[in-house]
Amino acid sequence: MNTATKRAAIILAAGKSTRMKSARSKVLHPVGGRPMLNWVTSLARDAGIERIVCVVGEGNVDVQAAARDLGLDIAIQEPQMGTGHAVQCAKEALRDFDGHVVVLYADTPLISVPTLEGVFKAFETHSLAVLGFEPEDPAAYGRLVVDGNDLHAIVEAKEASPEQLKIGICNSGVLAASAADLFGACDRVTNDNAKGEYYLTDIVEILRGEKKAATVVHAPETEVLGVNDRTDLARAEAAFQTVMRENAMRSGVSLKHPETVFFAYDTMIEPDVSIDANVVFGPGVTVHSGATIHSFCHIEGTDIGENAQIGPFARLRPGTHLAENTKVGNFVETKKAIVGKGSKINHLSYVGDAELGEGVNVGAGTITCNYDGYNKHKTIIGDGAFVGSNSSLVAPVTIGAGAFLGSGGVVTENVPDDALALARSKQVNKDGWGARFRAVQEKLKQKKKS
Ligand code: UD1
Ligand code: CA
Repeated sequence: MNTATKRAAIILAAGKSTRMKSARSKVLHPVGGRPMLNWVTSLARDAGIERIVCVVGEGNVDVQAAARDLGLDIAIQEPQMGTGHAVQCAKEALRDFDGHVVVLYADTPLISVPTLEGVFKAFETHSLAVLGFEPEDPAAYGRLVVDGNDLHAIVEAKEASPEQLKIGICNSGVLAASAADLFGACDRVTNDNAKGEYYLTDIVEILRGEKKAATVVHAPETEVLGVNDRTDLARAEAAFQTVMRENAMRSGVSLKHPETVFFAYDTMIEPDVSIDANVVFGPGVTVHSGATIHSFCHIEGTDIGENAQIGPFARLRPGTHLAENTKVGNFVETKKAIVGKGSKINHLSYVGDAELGEGVNVGAGTITCNYDGYNKHKTIIGDGAFVGSNSSLVAPVTIGAGAFLGSGGVVTENVPDDALALARSKQVNKDGWGARFRAVQEKLKQKKKS
């Protein structure tokens, strides 16, 4: 049965990305906080594809390194002579493979697993499946010449007749066939066309000539949106954000102004979380039930516990773990900070490389001085400790459970449990000093005038 057939993917990523005007290869630009190449790789893996070959140009050294990190096989295409030629370049890497092969574009990041499954399902009735869509503006996309769902040909916009240009259904680029059909047909593609390139799209007619049926599988435009330049990148980002916002709200998350909340590809938010306007999530965030995130927070690599209250204006950086009922208020930055149940850091503080127990109160303007110019050091604060406002905690330092720190201290030594630490100079009051000072100044003023 077809469903048991092995699957491989060829990811095309050898383009020159001229239109991005970037030192970085196009396919490494992020959508939702993750490079496009990683999106396509995840899609393939989530669809159970074990063999993935990434086709890259010799000059795309950054893409080669990224593909290696992702554990992909690499095939070099040099020079780049078109999409059909690119697929041929992957033939050697798949020479021992005899299952189904899907061709994916690294610049088309948002295809969902169910959509890709639809492509593989088409093998039950057809030899070749092409993912098509109906764009608002078909512009330069290849047109699908169809009869119902039967696909007769793909015509590139540059080769299309005025009649064919009127066709609304277009080629997303994704197609799948058996390895034998795909590579066999690619060997027969010529470059006798407007661009002088080997078009992968020509394999439709080649396979039909061998009495092999081709079909179209339909996809929503938002999934197959291809990124060529920075406006396309912004469009893909917007499409991704729309999906994330809808999913969040549908799963029970309140977004007061959804269009101002930005998610990353892996943001996890439990039901009954409430998020105010203008909140940005970087990668690696989980927010547990009942938490509230007020406006203007920037959050990445952080776990926010149940019923926590965050912001407004909080910056939570990677390695922050906030337990249930914690509070992190305005103009507070945290990094690698583990904060126990019910602890509060309400105003104007930096807490980095720190471990706070339960029920700790960190006063306004507290700074953990974690960096000495060479190394980072840790601050540990025990359960129930009270850190007075404007304290500098010079790490490494440990504040005992139940200890009190007097306001304005520069704390350089450990404080025992339940102690009071006063780490500032003693106040001196000079009686009458103000009156004497003013008298002298007034006298000088009179002298100048006369
Ligand atoms: C291609 C399709 C077109 C489709 C459109 C969808 C062909 C001939 N045309 O056109 O029908 O509507 O995609 O976006 O296939 N690449 C290589 N090596 C090459 C050329 C391209 O790896 O020699 C890669 C690019 O990096 C990119 C992808 O293939 O990821 C598509 O190439 P591109 O030149 O953008 O194709 P389009 O002209 O957009
Ligand atoms: Ca393209």
